[in-house]
Amino acid sequence: MDLKAHIRGIPDFPKPGILFYDISTLLRHGPAWREAMARLADMIRPHKPDLLAGIESRGFLVAAPLALELGLGFIMLRKPRKLPGLTIGLNYALEYGTDRIEMQADAVQKGQRVVLLDDLLATGGTMAAGINLLRQSGAEVPCAAALIELTFLGGRNRLDVPFEALVAYD
Ligand code: PRP
Ligand code: MG
Repeated sequence: MDLKAHIRGIPDFPKPGILFYDISTLLRHGPAWREAMARLADMIRPHKPDLLAGIESRGFLVAAPLALELGLGFIMLRKPRKLPGLTIGLNYALEYGTDRIEMQADAVQKGQRVVLLDDLLATGGTMAAGINLLRQSGAEVPCAAALIELTFLGGRNRLDVPFEALVAYD
């Protein structure tokens, strides 16, 4: 199955000149979405995760079904002030300004292998921050993965773990 046929490119969103890769059409096609999750599970399994982590919000759409597919638990890396209890967080730079992600301080046991998931890797800033935050929590991060990689932005070069993607655009 050609998964790219189920991903739409929408020009000039959210700003003029940006081609936005929209996974809505993949999500709403049951067999294609199931196939995407099965293939991503096959890519991740060799890294022997103990847990999966997803980055709010579209990363949750990937991490939760994959955790079910792999029979694993899943933890949330969230935007600030969303999680109850003791949290740890990391600020990271955007093109303009900064952003922050947080997780519950007790989500990971020291040395657990946590694979980090998102829908899309663009500049890699979000994924790199997620990896560093997971490490702060005591996790080992054997790999990171996404449905889509925008190779022309070179995001994987900002990651110090192996990176897997289902489809790439250049
Ligand atoms: C998008 C996308 C990734 C991130 C990739 O999230 O879902 O998380 O940007 O960009 P980067 O590699 O340049 O860091 P967005 O912040 O748009 O929010 P959303 O997932 O809540 O829609
Ligand atoms: Mg996102």
